Amino acid sequence: VHWTDAEREAINTFWAKIDHEEVGHQALTRVLVVYPWTQRYFSTFGNLSNATAIAGNPKVRAHGKRVLDALGDAITHLDNVSATYAKLSQLHSEKLHVDPENFRLLGETLIIVLAGQFGAAFTPAIHATWQKFLAVVIAALSKQYH
Ligand code: HEM
Repeated sequence: VHWTDAEREAINTFWAKIDHEEVGHQALTRVLVVYPWTQRYFSTFGNLSNATAIAGNPKVRAHGKRVLDALGDAITHLDNVSATYAKLSQLHSEKLHVDPENFRLLGETLIIVLAGQFGAAFTPAIHATWQKFLAVVIAALSKQYH
């Protein structure tokens, strides 16, 4: 993957403005509410019975932050996302058996949350760059599936 200076800038400056816990929480909550079949992977998380329960579940909140922190690893290794995510990909594939299609769903909800939170500051150029970044993340996470 080739990143232009403008793309690197768009990813890094925007990332610096993101509250990992809040954005991660909202994106994961949205996935679990809008695509309820994703709840099956989180059977240890306790009550996910409705949107209010999901939004108030402390494990969902903690995990949302963890996912966002992991995105930070990709951002600090933009030229090497595959290697950075090799173990994480293996975990989601071999241990968690997460259907990789779900990575795309989480990417979509993350874009929606960012657009909602940043409004006009989430410009079309930044949106496009983030879409590209998430495509790279999703490809890397899907790589160890076979
Ligand atoms: C665990 C990252 C998407 C299901 C994790 C962990 C990280 C992570 C860092 C903790 C790994 C560890 O314990 O060492 C990500 C990233 C994603 C992503 C960066 C996409 C951007 C998904 C999706 C699902 C999922 C879409 C399911 C719908 C899980 C589950 C765990 C997990 C079930 C274990 C949770 C637990 O029991 O604590 N993920 N994940 N992940 N992930 Fe993901």
